[in-house]
Amino acid sequence: MITAAIVGASGYAGAELIRLLLAHPQVRLGALTSRAEAGADVASVYPNFSGQGLRFVDPDAVDWAAHDVVFFATPHATAMYKVPEVLDAGCRVVDLSADFRLRDAQTFADWYGVEHAAPQLLAEAVYGLPELSDADFAGARLIACAGCYPTAVELAVAPALAAGLVDPQDIIADCKTGLSGAGRGSKVHLTLSEAGDSFSAYGSAGHRHQPEIAQELSRIAGAPAAVYFQPHLVPMIRGIHATVYLRPRQSGVDWQQLYADYYAGAPFVRVREPGAHPATRDVRASNSTHLALRERDGRLVVLSVIDNLVKGASGQAVQCLNRMYGWPEDTGVPAIGPLP
Ligand SMILES: NC(=O)c1ccc[n+]([C@@H]2O[C@H](COP(=O)([O-])OP(=O)(O)OC[C@H]3O[C@@H](n4cnc5c(N)ncnc54)[C@H](OP(=O)(O)O)[C@@H]3O)[C@@H](O)[C@H]2O)c1
Repeated sequence: MITAAIVGASGYAGAELIRLLLAHPQVRLGALTSRAEAGADVASVYPNFSGQGLRFVDPDAVDWAAHDVVFFATPHATAMYKVPEVLDAGCRVVDLSADFRLRDAQTFADWYGVEHAAPQLLAEAVYGLPELSDADFAGARLIACAGCYPTAVELAVAPALAAGLVDPQDIIADCKTGLSGAGRGSKVHLTLSEAGDSFSAYGSAGHRHQPEIAQELSRIAGAPAAVYFQPHLVPMIRGIHATVYLRPRQSGVDWQQLYADYYAGAPFVRVREPGAHPATRDVRASNSTHLALRERDGRLVVLSVIDNLVKGASGQAVQCLNRMYGWPEDTGVPAIGPLP
């Protein structure tokens, strides 16, 4: 049994971590932080936790050394100031934010508009997308969980790219997310009357997940990868749908078999039947990614759906935790969600 703290437990990703870790047989919940809600019953913010006896504490009041692992579910440019201290206290860290995903401190500064506060840890951080990684999770002190869009896109592209069967310079990722992707903080453009019954693109000038996707696809390709990434906001609560357009380098490839073989043994990736149109509802509240493939008009098109708060954030974080501790990868992480 290990004890886990969650910094940023009052946010959407933090609340989803609480839900998953309460059901995890190897984890005891420790400090659950919120500055705004310090002292309050967690159920006063999230009534689904009624009766669990959980309270928020201020992050400055936490004794890190009393914990084995600390999850950071905080906005970007928050964990990077605190993680060195938490590691020095002997904890392991699973960060759900973008702070340790990019290998290059300058790229981080360029995209996030702030100098990295702990660049010495970037080389050590293990990128947390277990299906696409042979990194040493068991020996890791610091996991940088993949972003939500990057998870949906990278899982869609990896098998074809790793086999050298598509052009790494010709990748288009057309993506849609629900409103919970932006977190719990109130923002006018995310209210029902602004975002409901409407649909729009955003971030056309460049989205912060673009360099992360390019970094990881380049690693997988073993060559520079160029991705045109366009996100959209749709009026739903959870879910990401990515339609990824790839350019095959040869004809006659059995993509269905290639993808099925690549993800054989991966408990959370399903390559759906030919002709399928995976829906975000198919993976809601689960850690699964559903993929479907088509080849047409000179393109391989991959449809990919995830739940942004589970496979895109907290489920993936617990999957990474399981790898760190050598527990079965699906311990406490649901592969199947509810329908309807
Ligand atoms: N939402 C998603 O679908 C999703 C998916 C993948 C990754 N992520 C990433 O996960 C992280 C959390 O996202 P979220 O959607 O859960 O955000 P959120 O709902 O806005 O929650 C943010 C949490 O961080 C705390 N916090 C904010 N500033 C802090 C600071 N300076 N020090 C300590 N705690 C602080 C907040 O509580 P207090 O302000 O009360 O302390 C709150 O608990 C972000 O980095 C996000 O990019 C989110």
